[in-house]
Amino acid sequence: MCDHCGCREYAPIAQLTADHVEILALAETLSSATRSHRPIDDAGKARLLELLEMHSAKEEAGLYPLLISQMGDDDGAFAHLEEEHREIAELIETDRFEHLAFYALQRHVEEEEEVLFSSALFWFDGDTWEVLEAVHELVDAESPGVAVQPLHPERQQHDHDHPHDHDHPHDHDHPHDHDHPHDHDHPHDHEHPATAT
Ligand SMILES: [Fe+2]
Ligand SMILES: [Fe+2]
Repeated sequence: MCDHCGCREYAPIAQLTADHVEILALAETLSSATRSHRPIDDAGKARLLELLEMHSAKEEAGLYPLLISQMGDDDGAFAHLEEEHREIAELIETDRFEHLAFYALQRHVEEEEEVLFSSALFWFDGDTWEVLEAVHELVDAESPGVAVQPLHPERQQHDHDHPHDHDHPHDHDHPHDHDHPHDHDHPHDHEHPATAT
């Protein structure tokens, strides 16, 4: 888990990370019941499938292609992750999601959090973050009731008095100050999306 790089301060990454927490909790319960032949919680299984569908759509329409375009990577750079989305969903739908499948899901999440999220922090500029947020909002609009948290909860509470206007930690204490490409044009310095509206 990337606990220290700061990527969770970005709303779309915080949202994907929150999804991961709920997905892994539901998946662990399901795999445990499946392996020990106990009755499956149908509501938990349905919630897991809904979450996975919404979450995968965000990654496949947002994070993955944006990383590929920003990094100049091959189109198929994350095809293995998309394939894993399909495999995991199929195993859950057919009640074959046991402990090995759960471990595979854990590895999938670890790769995203440790490699992709930190790459996004390094490569994405303000425009890219805005595109990613738009993709997430579009998917959320098509999946009402599924998302675990709004993209910008602070906008609803601090529209007129947002603390990011004057003392966001990125202004003076970004952990990547010495080698981050955003040193000179970090979006938080002048156009943090939370201050836009
Ligand atoms: Fe994924
Ligand atoms: Fe993910």
